[in-house]
Amino acid sequence: MMRKVAVLGSTGSIGTQALEIIHANPELELHSILCNSNLDLLLKQREQYSPSVTAIAQPGGECPDGVITGQGILYKAIEGADMVLNAIVGSAGLQASLICRDMSITLALANKESLVVGGSLLSDYISAGRVIPVDSEHSTIFRCLHREPRPARSITLTASGGSARDIPIEKLQTAGVDDILNHPTWNMGARITVDSATMVNKAFEVIEARWLFDGLQIDVVLHPQSIVHSFVRLEDGSWKALLGKPDMKIPIQYALAYPGRGLELISDDSPLDWGTLEFTELDRLRYPAFDIVARAGKDGKTWPAAANAADEVAVAAFLASRISFGDIATVIEEVLTGHEALEIVDFQTVMEADRDSRIQAERIVIRLC
Ligand SMILES: NC(=O)c1ccc[n+]([C@@H]2O[C@H](COP(=O)([O-])OP(=O)(O)OC[C@H]3O[C@@H](n4cnc5c(N)ncnc54)[C@H](OP(=O)(O)O)[C@@H]3O)[C@@H](O)[C@H]2O)c1
Repeated sequence: MMRKVAVLGSTGSIGTQALEIIHANPELELHSILCNSNLDLLLKQREQYSPSVTAIAQPGGECPDGVITGQGILYKAIEGADMVLNAIVGSAGLQASLICRDMSITLALANKESLVVGGSLLSDYISAGRVIPVDSEHSTIFRCLHREPRPARSITLTASGGSARDIPIEKLQTAGVDDILNHPTWNMGARITVDSATMVNKAFEVIEARWLFDGLQIDVVLHPQSIVHSFVRLEDGSWKALLGKPDMKIPIQYALAYPGRGLELISDDSPLDWGTLEFTELDRLRYPAFDIVARAGKDGKTWPAAANAADEVAVAAFLASRISFGDIATVIEEVLTGHEALEIVDFQTVMEADRDSRIQAERIVIRLC
């Protein structure tokens, strides 16, 4: 049976890799592609991969023939798919995940922000086994737990340390955009690369793991080589992990084929190339934003949505050279200090917290500029 896949965020780092995987595999058919504003690349993708639906959120002018935009494009891009890969960046991805939930379509989830800002809205859908993680750490844990008869006790997320790990701590506050975008082991979109440098990404992953693997203790260790893509500790004391050179095509492919066994071997990898594997504790002084965001995750309610919104604004301001790298943590902390958290009852609650926190974050950015 062919599986029809909708690729949301098709012009991004995850999206473009997913299109290559789908194109190379006869069991997968491309149903739709959707992006925010990169019309040039979207049109090239349409020509190369011939999806049934091509959609853009912000075309910035007239839409070419056959490209849809405007209200309801998420529904139109998702409807008719057997599986949706949500590779949109930011809290903008939550709505797509909720539509998949409502339409009962299996979701391959790269957009970790869906769980960070609105995990409680998706928890039943996760329990029903309809959410397949794409994030490499969560894919690893998911695969380690799959058909594992022994109960698990805890999970340990590995963190490369991002580009900030090799910059002298006294120079970190004023590190430049090029230095921060130069990730030592992964090649990813701009926002997640900056988030890796601040470790906001790892704090988000802890929140994401809490929703995906309910009830398990979650630890984080620094692992500069990014060869071990996280661990599971079982009740019998043994450790399980998946190892290999960093390659997002592996978790993307696993999710798109799930519950199949995977589509094909895509990398020639050998332990002889891995070198020494190191594991150390996180340096809290180097990564102050980690504890701030992890705390927001523990506190629940709309705290993580506020942290995410503040981070989205701060990262965009850093990338535009409006604030310094060190200011990102300040913006998040100050937004959280002023946030009045609410219980999440629906999408609207999340979006209001998101909007208010963005306004606050922008005020703080203007003050820091
Ligand atoms: N990259 C990785 O290796 C990696 C690994 C693990 C998890 N993730 C997660 O996967 C997600 C995507 O990451 P990425 O690195 O692929 O990001 P990216 O390269 O920045 O791409 C983001 C994609 O989302 C689209 N987009 C943004 N806002 C949108 C909106 N409002 N409506 C529709 N489309 C929108 C963008 O379109 P335009 O191109 O038009 O702006 C682009 O296609 C993130 O949540 C990230 O945390 C990524």
